[in-house]
Amino acid sequence: MKILFVGDIVGSPGRTAFARTVTRWRQEQKVDVVIANAENAAGGRGLTPALAEELFNAGADALTLGDHTWDQKELAPYLEQEPRIVRPANFPPGCPGRGHTVVETPKGAVLVINLIGRVFMPAQDCPLRTADAVLKEAAARARIILVDIHAEATSEKIVTGRHLDGRVTAVVGTHTHVQTADDGLLPKGTAYITDVGMTGPKDSVLGRALEPVLRKFLTGMPTKFDIATDDVRLEGVLIEADAKTGRARRIQRVCESLDGK
Ligand SMILES: [Fe+2]
Ligand SMILES: [Fe+2]
Repeated sequence: MKILFVGDIVGSPGRTAFARTVTRWRQEQKVDVVIANAENAAGGRGLTPALAEELFNAGADALTLGDHTWDQKELAPYLEQEPRIVRPANFPPGCPGRGHTVVETPKGAVLVINLIGRVFMPAQDCPLRTADAVLKEAAARARIILVDIHAEATSEKIVTGRHLDGRVTAVVGTHTHVQTADDGLLPKGTAYITDVGMTGPKDSVLGRALEPVLRKFLTGMPTKFDIATDDVRLEGVLIEADAKTGRARRIQRVCESLDGK
C-alpha cells in the first residue's frame, strides 16, 4: 500500500499545489491513500467546511489538524458530522470532533490518529498515553496505522516515534513547516520523520510573507501576517507498507515544485 502524507497546507497557494500534485500522483505513483494536514488551509488559520470539501474533492481521503483547529468557528460543529477529519486526540475530553478515524481503501482499512505535543505549546493531555488508549480501542480496526504528531519540539516527536515503534505503520511529524532529513525506519520497523514539511509558498517564513513577520520580530508590534506567494511546493512523505502485516517497507521525503506546472 502506498500512502501519501502531505505537510501543512498553507492558504490558497498550498491548496492549489495539493490539488494539482495529488491528481497527477494518484495516477503516476499509484498512491492508494492520501492524508494531509490542513490546519493552515484557511489563509494560514485553521480550516473551514468549504475548504475541507475542496481538499476532499482534490483527492484527500482524510485530513489532520493541530494547534489551529479552532481558528475558524464553523469548524467545530462540522467536525461532529465529518468523520474524515481528525483533530488532536489528546485535546481535553468533551471538545468537539474525534482524534482518530478509519479510512477504507481497496487495499484495506487505514487508521489515522492525530496527536499534539505539549512542549513549547499549550498544555494538553499526554500524547503518549492518549496514543496508547486510542490503539487499545481502535488498533484492531485496521492493519495500517498512521500517526500525525503535531509538535514543536524535535525531542517530543522522536520520543513519540520510539514509544509507538513496532505498534503502528508510521509516525510523521507536522507543525514546524520545515522538512527534516531524518526519514527512515525505526528499530522495530515503524516509518518515521520528525517533520514532513509544508505545502505552500517556500519563499516565506513558514508560509507567511517575510516583511510583516520581520517587522514583528524587529518591533514587537502586532502585525497581520499575509500568506506569501512565491516558490510554491508540495512537501510530504510517501510511505510504502505491507497491507497484510501493516509493516512499513520504506518512507521517502517528497518535495514537488509547482513552478511551470
Ligand atoms: Fe501547527
Ligand atoms: Fe502548521
